Amino acid sequence: MITFDQQTKTFHLQNKTTSYIIGIEEHNYLTHLYFGKKINHYSGGYRYPRTNRSFSPNPAHSKDRLFSLDTLPLEYPGFGHGDFREPAHLIKLTSGSRVNDFRYVSYEIQDGKPALEGLPATYVQDETDAMTLVLTLQDTISQLTLRLFYTIFAEASVITRSAQLVNDGSETVEINRLASQALDFGNQPLELIHLNGTWAKERQLTRETIHPGIKVIDSKRGSSSHQQNPFAAFVTPQTTEFQGEAYGFSLLYSGNHETIVQKDPFDQIRVIMGINSFNFGWQLQPKASFQTPEVVMVYSDQGLNAMSQTYHDLFNQHLIRGKYKHKERPTLINNWEATYFDFNEDKIMNIVSEAKALGVEMFVLDDGWFGGREDDFTSLGDWVETEGKLACGLENLAQQVHDQGMKFGLWFEPEMISEDSELFRAHPEWALGIPGRERSLSRSQYVLDFSRADVRENIYQQMTAIFDRVPLDYVKWDMNRNMTEVYSVLLGPEQQGEVAHRYILGLYEFLERLTTSYPEILFESCSGGGGRFDAGFLYYMPQTWTSDNTDAIARLKIQYGTSLVYPISSMGAHVSAIPNHQTGRETSLTIRGNVAMSGVFGYELDLTQLTSEEKAEIKEQVAFYKQHRQLLQFGDFYRLKSPYEGNDTAWMFVSKDQKEAMVFYFRVLADAAHPLVTLKLTGLAADAVYEINQEEFGGDELMNIGFYIDSELYGDYATQRFYLKRK
Ligand code: GLA
Repeated sequence: MITFDQQTKTFHLQNKTTSYIIGIEEHNYLTHLYFGKKINHYSGGYRYPRTNRSFSPNPAHSKDRLFSLDTLPLEYPGFGHGDFREPAHLIKLTSGSRVNDFRYVSYEIQDGKPALEGLPATYVQDETDAMTLVLTLQDTISQLTLRLFYTIFAEASVITRSAQLVNDGSETVEINRLASQALDFGNQPLELIHLNGTWAKERQLTRETIHPGIKVIDSKRGSSSHQQNPFAAFVTPQTTEFQGEAYGFSLLYSGNHETIVQKDPFDQIRVIMGINSFNFGWQLQPKASFQTPEVVMVYSDQGLNAMSQTYHDLFNQHLIRGKYKHKERPTLINNWEATYFDFNEDKIMNIVSEAKALGVEMFVLDDGWFGGREDDFTSLGDWVETEGKLACGLENLAQQVHDQGMKFGLWFEPEMISEDSELFRAHPEWALGIPGRERSLSRSQYVLDFSRADVRENIYQQMTAIFDRVPLDYVKWDMNRNMTEVYSVLLGPEQQGEVAHRYILGLYEFLERLTTSYPEILFESCSGGGGRFDAGFLYYMPQTWTSDNTDAIARLKIQYGTSLVYPISSMGAHVSAIPNHQTGRETSLTIRGNVAMSGVFGYELDLTQLTSEEKAEIKEQVAFYKQHRQLLQFGDFYRLKSPYEGNDTAWMFVSKDQKEAMVFYFRVLADAAHPLVTLKLTGLAADAVYEINQEEFGGDELMNIGFYIDSELYGDYATQRFYLKRK
């Protein structure tokens, strides 16, 4: 899969579908020659043309005015030697200069894929799953060594990248930027897709033309954020869900990130992705090394659906770990929107009994069970059960839930501390904060300094005391604010630029320890809904609560956008009460069910308040979901109609063996005399016959002619669902 051609001095990473080509040029600079559809034979004859551009400098002592770093497509560009575009690295030397000049030295090709110490990364099950190229570059003046890692997976159009810097000198240097990847594209019309939003409105899909200049997608919030997801894609103007080229870039990181897209004066496009360089400064001691997070690059020549499926399959097979990796996820009832903080044993057990009767498999006790917390002003950091709130006690409650034959889950927000807490009174210095300055509040809470081992140990001991006493099947790990006054009192002034990243490294260490020590527990991450829905987190926790917005109509856009990168089996989705608590909208139980069962299905409302008709419908939904859960959680997901483009949305699931499929259709607003809607399905076996509602259709008939959505759909928020079974 990886070859080096001595003649053309090129590295070619290649599998059945994709090629990635790197060249070694004069002066031992590395150029980026190609990424895209597989090239069977690369002659190297048609190399990137050299041009003499005024004001584009040439290397020292070179009389060749055609060679300039400013115009070449480069693998890992620096700054200060003629390339005036955005660099992949900025490293401050003791001289005060940030100019470094890395030249290629050697390469190594390995079977499999090395792990990244302390960081989430895709992994191989078998050495034959992937191959890795390691390129070593050096700057002899600064005595820094750079290693670029490229892994190509055998069975998918996937290349992962990361970089490592080693200080071989005798003086400490400061890393201000070390990107996970840099990628240059020649002059071609490309558009940028990214996922942006805010609380209750996560991962809204935006597609825009790339204009000259620089566009940055980033987070300075200390977390991957609701606002800008660490993901971007480049597509051609012709690319649709079903055809055309798409290049996806997903950063496996849960903290401050940046994606810089630059179109230069010659219409060449560069994309840099990695830890956010804003306010970043890492002291790299002599002999020490720094490893960047990983970027997963996906290529598709069959549109966005194929790109998404590549991500879904890769993340399901090579990123998510643990007992639930391939296991069907339980249906759940969460009490948050049912009771908020106002619950007791009776209320909870009434909900549990109703849930049991309706077939729901797990009960999750949300916020408010610890430290005397009756509202969101207090007690974070005190992970001790509030005595008397649940008359029977937590352990006994879990037992009662288990006695009903259901699983039991519990909510935690481990990274946070309330000013009004025993922990804060004992250790105010454990919260992030700058001595002499007041800390800003958000949801009336502060952020614990997870870069500190003592802080992590305290929270670990408190949490696991509960884990060891209460039989838990599931844990919801929440995080309800972003970071301000980022400063750690344990570090010296020159190291304060490291805190945000050290926090994430500390968090990852904690998550690794906790999830491997309690392998039976299903973990779901959350951050005010989907404020930290990133691929880094999926390495530790296979599910994420997609959004605090449970309104079915708002969820169409949220789940559609999320599905661009993240597997359906990772997206928590619940049916909640009407009027919806976030939007005030009233929709039918049917559409709420259809939207939520397009994710990992659950309920989040007071089941005791429902009519018998509503309960009957929920019972039917739960039974239906359980029957088709394998298909809905692990089947191939296809987006058919985008909620961003009109009044209707459609998507479908096809089992890997194409023996069954499920189609969902949603129409937001009613429309008299609505034009007939034909849905052309996809992903079916063309020569097979499928049964839908006792009628038979050819697979090719459904894909080419399509079938009609009910012309009598009436009222706002209408929906239809079809199950297809191969004959
Ligand atoms: C966050 C979560 C909610 C709920 C509350 C509890 O907002 O996203 O699901 O757990 O916290 O305080």
